[in-house]
Amino acid sequence: MPLFSKGIRALSRSFTVLVDELGEKSERAGKNIYRFDVGVPGVAPPAWAVEPLIEALRRGDTSVYSYSPGPGLEELREAIALDLRAMKGPRVSPDEVLVVSGGQHAMFVALASILDRGCEVVVTDPVYFGYPSLIEYFGCSIRRVPTDPGKGFKINVEALSSVVRRERTRALVIVDPDNPTGRVLDKSEARAVIDVAASADSWVLVDEAYMTLVYEGGKEWLFDMDPSRVVGLFTFSKDPGIPGWRLGFIYGAREFIEKASLVARETMYSPPMPAQLLVLKYLTDPRRKEFVEEARRTYRARRDAMVSALSSIRSVQAYKPRGSIFVMADFSEYLERLGTDSQGLARTLLDKVGVATVPGSFFGETTKTHLRLSFAGEAEERIKEGVEAVKEFLDQL
Ligand SMILES: Cc1ncc(COP(=O)(O)O)c(C=O)c1O
Repeated sequence: MPLFSKGIRALSRSFTVLVDELGEKSERAGKNIYRFDVGVPGVAPPAWAVEPLIEALRRGDTSVYSYSPGPGLEELREAIALDLRAMKGPRVSPDEVLVVSGGQHAMFVALASILDRGCEVVVTDPVYFGYPSLIEYFGCSIRRVPTDPGKGFKINVEALSSVVRRERTRALVIVDPDNPTGRVLDKSEARAVIDVAASADSWVLVDEAYMTLVYEGGKEWLFDMDPSRVVGLFTFSKDPGIPGWRLGFIYGAREFIEKASLVARETMYSPPMPAQLLVLKYLTDPRRKEFVEEARRTYRARRDAMVSALSSIRSVQAYKPRGSIFVMADFSEYLERLGTDSQGLARTLLDKVGVATVPGSFFGETTKTHLRLSFAGEAEERIKEGVEAVKEFLDQL
């Protein structure tokens, strides 16, 4: 057979594939499965954001079926810029925003715009599992910086400085709020990331997929600290919760957006129109604020239920996340008792207890004795029940 690209090998090792398989397996089982594995929201987008689109479809409005400008509808780029400002976030203009087809696409476009074969990309450990395979696909190597689980997965700045190298490090990737740990960078960490990146003249990609889900305190905006170096990535998969509709955006300096638009054009031509129309209505309607606050209240209550249920399991250490929809919990004692690793434990809990989680080892060495539990997809009662079932099982070991 003729040759395939070298990059494909990196993609076939992707944990995203394994996690999707796990999800499918649990659905197929048709049993009562507690879905703590999913990263998709359990809250539907508001009806008022969908209605105008339904009406346009009923009217037979052909623009809904059409292409949009490559970088996205002008009104949507404007709405995104205004929305970021309203969140006290970065002050970008519409031409510093590029609409893309979801978070995964944002990652691909951003990395494809800056990486060359042979360069290095620094990520935290643990890191969202979507990144390593893509970085390797582009022929680059990954330098991981351990974080400290005992300190809420704080970034170790000394370790960060020691792996960053001028001429070699092309980018630092930071997820903030973080998937999988829920860490939200504080001011000093954010400053340190920028300073270290500046010392090697590297890009900083800050993945802000969960930017609207910060439960206590604020969020630091890295872009404001160095607009020429920082690129923000966002997906509408979580807020307003349209993962299957594939929409997200990238913001950054005009020169970056110009280059990234070229990659976006080649990989999608233009972003999906129905999703753009829905999000345009969503972002520009005054009811949006209340919708986000309500979603945040719901998720905060679910987070508290999850953390408190986990802390009732003897010797399990669960870090209470300040943002995102995930809790990372250390199950090392039970791994020892079962003589298994986090992947084995996740499988056992799925098969024996009907609880789906994601093994911490999928995200890195630092969390190899952990499980990641999402609190987005199940209501509080179900969260308590599911974790109680895990506790009962573990208590018998
Ligand atoms: C941090 C982060 N970035 C990117 C993505 C990918 O987003 P999407 O599902 O829109 O492709 C996800 C999805 O879970 C995520 O958690």
